Amino acid sequence: MSSLNQALSVALDNRHSLLAELHAQGTDCYRLFHGSQEGASGLTVDRYGPQLLVQSFHNSLDRDSLLTLQAAIQKHLGLELMLVYNDRSHGNSRVDRSDPVYKADDAALEDLVGHEWGLNYRVRGRHAGQDPLLFLDLRTARGWVKDHAKGKRVLNLFAYTCGVGLSAAAGGAREVCNLDFAEGNLLVGRENGKLNPQLPEMQFIQSDYFPAIRQLAGLPVASRRSQKLPSYVRLEQRQFDLVLLDPPAWAKSAFGTVDLLRDYQSLLKPALLTTAEDGVLICCNNLAKVSMEDWRDQVLRCASKISRPVRDWQVLTPGADFPSMDQQPPLKTLILQL
Ligand SMILES: C[S@@+](CC[C@H](N)C(=O)[O-])C[C@H]1O[C@@H](n2cnc3c(N)ncnc32)[C@H](O)[C@@H]1O
Repeated sequence: MSSLNQALSVALDNRHSLLAELHAQGTDCYRLFHGSQEGASGLTVDRYGPQLLVQSFHNSLDRDSLLTLQAAIQKHLGLELMLVYNDRSHGNSRVDRSDPVYKADDAALEDLVGHEWGLNYRVRGRHAGQDPLLFLDLRTARGWVKDHAKGKRVLNLFAYTCGVGLSAAAGGAREVCNLDFAEGNLLVGRENGKLNPQLPEMQFIQSDYFPAIRQLAGLPVASRRSQKLPSYVRLEQRQFDLVLLDPPAWAKSAFGTVDLLRDYQSLLKPALLTTAEDGVLICCNNLAKVSMEDWRDQVLRCASKISRPVRDWQVLTPGADFPSMDQQPPLKTLILQL
């Protein structure tokens, strides 16, 4: 047995009870192999409903290894999955796309549906963006939101494909507002809404984070080095009972720079002000090199500095399908009770 097959076999055995639990709760999207922590750095294997998504970030997988891996997983799960292999190890893939194994079946590349916490999600193996349409390590946070959203006004910041918003709607939120500047991501969010017609409709705000959150927080919209600002969506000052702040590690726009390493505070401060008294702010930091302790201290300090002290806080960790040997998973999530 190759070392990859051995590592995969251990990973599948380690997930025995987790998978039973996930299936029972209506979830068929999860990580089956988290290579960096389970013996094959740069390789991830995820199930997204009927699809098996294999991605390599350092070295391409050869044809035989890929087929052996698919066969082992299908045997373990007792079902057939449609293979999509995205090799991201050399910019935009150097594998031979004329080979059907690498090309993927047409059926595997169609728009599919996966499930999480009983909700339907759009699954698309290849699309214009880099990431799959649902980040699996945020599943526990979506579950928490579903359990705590009843009657709440919910704001989902950096909403991407609106998974957190959908979970809030499923949990009985009074109002759900998803904010992101990327039209394509919000379009998938709208599709996710339509895939769950039993839920109340969500709102979508297509806007840059900085002008939107500053207006909601009642702060002036500042220009960068007195440059003229591009036009932006006008919003009234207001607060929400449950706010999720899950920004990318780094992104630059005409209105500011999202930089989780150097300046978490400029994202956090207006988000705190937009959270109602007695409300909850869930904030995330996906930068591996920032430790939970340092970041948490920074977050708590920022909150007291602007007189929004945190009454209580709780750490949420990703599920057991994202094992972390040093107990420091890259995605850190804090639930702040204000
Ligand atoms: C890492 S994803 C966030 C994941 C998301 N919270 C989820 O639940 O899956 C980053 C998102 O931030 C958005 N984004 C990046 N910079 C932005 C900005 N300045 N204003 C608004 N959205 C931004 C991107 O379009 C993308 O959808």
